[in-house]
Amino acid sequence: MSENNYVRIFDTTLRDGEQSPGASLTSSEKLEVARSLTRLGVDVIEAGFPAASPDDLFAVQNIAKEVGHTAGPHGRTPIVCGLARAIERDIDKAWEAVQFAATPRIHTFISTSAIHMEHQLRMDPEEVVERAIRMVKHAKSMCADIEFSPMDAGRSDPTFMYLVLAEAIKAGATTLNIPDTVGYLTPPEYFEMIRGIKENTPGIENVIISTHCHDDLGLATANTLAGVRAGARQVEVTINGIGERAGNTSLEEFVMSLKTRPSIFGLETGIETTQLVPVSRQVAKLTGIAVPRNKAIVGANAFAHESGIHQDGMLKHAGTYEIMRPQDVGLDQTNLVLGKHSGRAALRARLADLGYEVQGEELNAVFVKFKALADTQKEVSDSDLIGLIDAELDDPTLIYKLDGLQVTCGTVEMPTAAVRLRDPEGNVQTAVAIGTGPVDATFKAIDSIVNIPNVLSEYAVRAVTEGIDANGQVTVRLESKNGFDVNRIDPQQGVSRPRTFGGHGSETDIVVASAKAYLSALNKMLRVKNRHQTGAV
Ligand code: KIV
Ligand code: ZN
Repeated sequence: MSENNYVRIFDTTLRDGEQSPGASLTSSEKLEVARSLTRLGVDVIEAGFPAASPDDLFAVQNIAKEVGHTAGPHGRTPIVCGLARAIERDIDKAWEAVQFAATPRIHTFISTSAIHMEHQLRMDPEEVVERAIRMVKHAKSMCADIEFSPMDAGRSDPTFMYLVLAEAIKAGATTLNIPDTVGYLTPPEYFEMIRGIKENTPGIENVIISTHCHDDLGLATANTLAGVRAGARQVEVTINGIGERAGNTSLEEFVMSLKTRPSIFGLETGIETTQLVPVSRQVAKLTGIAVPRNKAIVGANAFAHESGIHQDGMLKHAGTYEIMRPQDVGLDQTNLVLGKHSGRAALRARLADLGYEVQGEELNAVFVKFKALADTQKEVSDSDLIGLIDAELDDPTLIYKLDGLQVTCGTVEMPTAAVRLRDPEGNVQTAVAIGTGPVDATFKAIDSIVNIPNVLSEYAVRAVTEGIDANGQVTVRLESKNGFDVNRIDPQQGVSRPRTFGGHGSETDIVVASAKAYLSALNKMLRVKNRHQTGAV
């Protein structure tokens, strides 16, 4: 593989992805995802926006300290990057966080489109150029590896952009990222933009050009592919394509396009594609943003064949209807089911494939439950395992734990829930509440014990196993409310937004699953609140 054919994968799941409404992750969840991204082989992890809040800074620092010293499958340690607006304080915070990585990077940005400069920044173009130069130099005084982005490049005047980019290179930028911030461009236009930058920016031959595309018109992957054809050698992408509004370019779509069509692109990445499905599942689970069934590469239907004609073709030759092999994206063992003769090592390996790193005591506990399940049913499928592990693993972030729950509901009586929780000191507390239904009554009873103001902004139930005895997975999303300031600054709007917390729980009883999901989100809120109060960041 020549350096010229290598495309660096810059994963921004933990920054742009985590910025998507409701996707907020705790620092330990971010670390879990960062570990998986390292196993996946990404070249750069944009771990967050450290100036957003003390909690965000803490999360990026954790990732820099651990993952920033862990080699990926290709033997290289990922670069750990922190985002910063072109503001001195943001850049200082970014450095405070990423400096612990073996290879740290600061990514700073400022808008260059007329509409952003006039209405959002309220700055003249001259001021923008001057600020970009000063802030790139400031970042460079601390960190060797500097990425600069002219935000809303897609709607910027090309000549002005060439000037800003040339100045950023002179000031020390080593990667120039070209965002189609609002997802407005079409592939030929994005191609032309990159080509124009290559031809008209002095010094461009000494830096890497990067793509950053949003999916507002559903063109993010197509635009990114156009970008690399025009000469970009870094792409900014997210797992499952999550991100602001309609999302970013999906990592898995981009990577599999290069791999499946080598004669078109002739380009390579360092991605271990068999990790795609496990990471996708992990990100969906932790963010609570489900992957649509028909999502390319990682959707549940991506390799499913239902119609008679397709099944007939598949039985005769898989190539009739499949352009990729499921095993290449990590689906090789979905049909390989575990059973009662499977051992601990097989269980552990399968769980790792599914995105769960389980060992020691935790593995023993899951293994006991797995054996019990394997005794009652002949085969234990992946979805059984996901349901089982979610139900059985003790969430290490739990502060309050569910110790007992009883509900009465139906058409005659008022829905009532009696809840027993074990508090952080290990004491048992009980409460009873009436609600509009069993789930509402349960949440009210929990609230009366935990007592942390919040608004329930999302509640969803889905079956993760098949049949009438299916495991139900409940996802909830809570927004912090008055008197509990865990807001964080949005890097693009510059405004403070309330933070949301997701929680999930799996059980055959969906009311119990709901209680677990609700508690898990409340516990996350509590942990962040505690950290803010103690200043332990
Ligand atoms: O979409 C965008 O412009 C961004 C920048 C911060 C790079 O996310
Ligand atoms: Zn973006």
